[in-house]
Amino acid sequence: MNKRALITGITGQDGSYLAEHLLSLGYEVHGLVRRVALEQPDERLSRLRNCLDRLQIQPANLDSYASVFHVFSKQEFDECYHLAAQSFVAESFADGFSTMATNIDGTHYVLAALRELQPKCRFYFAGSSEMFGKVRETPQRETTPFHPRSPYGVSKVTGFHLSMNYREAYGMFCSNGILFNHESPRRGLEFVTRKITHGVARIKLGLASELKLGNLEAKRDWGHARDYVKAMHLMLQQAEGSDYVVATGETHSVREFCELAFGEAGLDYREYVRQDKAVYRPAEVDLLIGDASKAHKELKWQPKVDFRSLVKEMLHSDLELLSSRAPQAAAL
Ligand code: NAP
Ligand code: GDD
Repeated sequence: MNKRALITGITGQDGSYLAEHLLSLGYEVHGLVRRVALEQPDERLSRLRNCLDRLQIQPANLDSYASVFHVFSKQEFDECYHLAAQSFVAESFADGFSTMATNIDGTHYVLAALRELQPKCRFYFAGSSEMFGKVRETPQRETTPFHPRSPYGVSKVTGFHLSMNYREAYGMFCSNGILFNHESPRRGLEFVTRKITHGVARIKLGLASELKLGNLEAKRDWGHARDYVKAMHLMLQQAEGSDYVVATGETHSVREFCELAFGEAGLDYREYVRQDKAVYRPAEVDLLIGDASKAHKELKWQPKVDFRSLVKEMLHSDLELLSSRAPQAAAL
């Protein structure tokens, strides 16, 4: 019998790669999708274009317990990957309340509905290296204390503890991924890596003359989303639920990302990048670098795409995208 999985946040970067991965393993894949996305399928379901016809869509919203409960009352699942969230750190400073509501209450709704209706379903929570925030040790591992620096980080620490509590209190299979930044050509335009590769492509094609960025000295451990969704799946195939850091073990600054992306297009970033104080955050996470030894050992997981290849892939994808749509792109 094929396994059946539900992915919340299937329309996002990770959801789309995870859906493709699970389909390739023979899973029946269902996706929890907001109704608003169903009304604008070309735009909001665009990351699913390779597999939409093989998915089953379940309309629901994390803001409503009733809608989440309804999804689990209609269908039994073997695995639930809870990826849906307000995932942009800067936005969490602008609207901490809605970030908390979606990321904390939404996670609690999924866990509570599972406990009530399908306690045997295996649960994955999308935790984040942002939980380490003002880091207490380097590199960061599963035992490193959390010190979140944003409402988003606070919401993910709470989601992490909720998931752990359901594991300990009710014996449910709950695993928390502590994923460090992972990117791809499907990354949202608001995140710095995609903002840079999209910006470089616009400059290269004569559609823009500068790129405004914030803190260039922040350092992140950047991997490829396609590699990271495989770790999520492996976590739910273990004998019991646990917590895992998923990272490359390398760190690079935003400045280095710029240097490489502009360089790949034959440009010097110093001529185009302008620093904009408005993009700085009230509290910054300066340095992230993960120690994924536990995932290497227990999950037999290893990342395949290195930093340089990631930057190249994202840049060439944006050059191709914008070359094919040059007139519309000029208006972005
Ligand atoms: P993403 O591209 O921003 O996708 C977020 C998803 O959540 C979208 O499908 C979005 O649906 C959905 N969503 C947001 N609010 C919702 C609501 N109220 N009800 C239902 N769905 C809602 O994020 P991602 O990069 O794929 O990340 C996936 C998860 O991993 C997130 O929880 C993120 O916080 C976490 N994470 C990401 C990284 C990373 O580097 N990418 C690292 C660590 C952890 P719409 O399309 O309708 O907006
Ligand atoms: N977004 C953005 N835009 N960030 C900028 C900019 C800019 O113009 N200029 C500099 N930065 C810096 C930010 O201040 C931050 O230090 C770093 O670039 C990365 O920012 P993001 O790409 O927005 O990602 P993030 O690290 O804050 O959060 C991402 O990774 C987390 C895992 O650590 C998100 O995907 C989160 O959902 C995820 O949990």
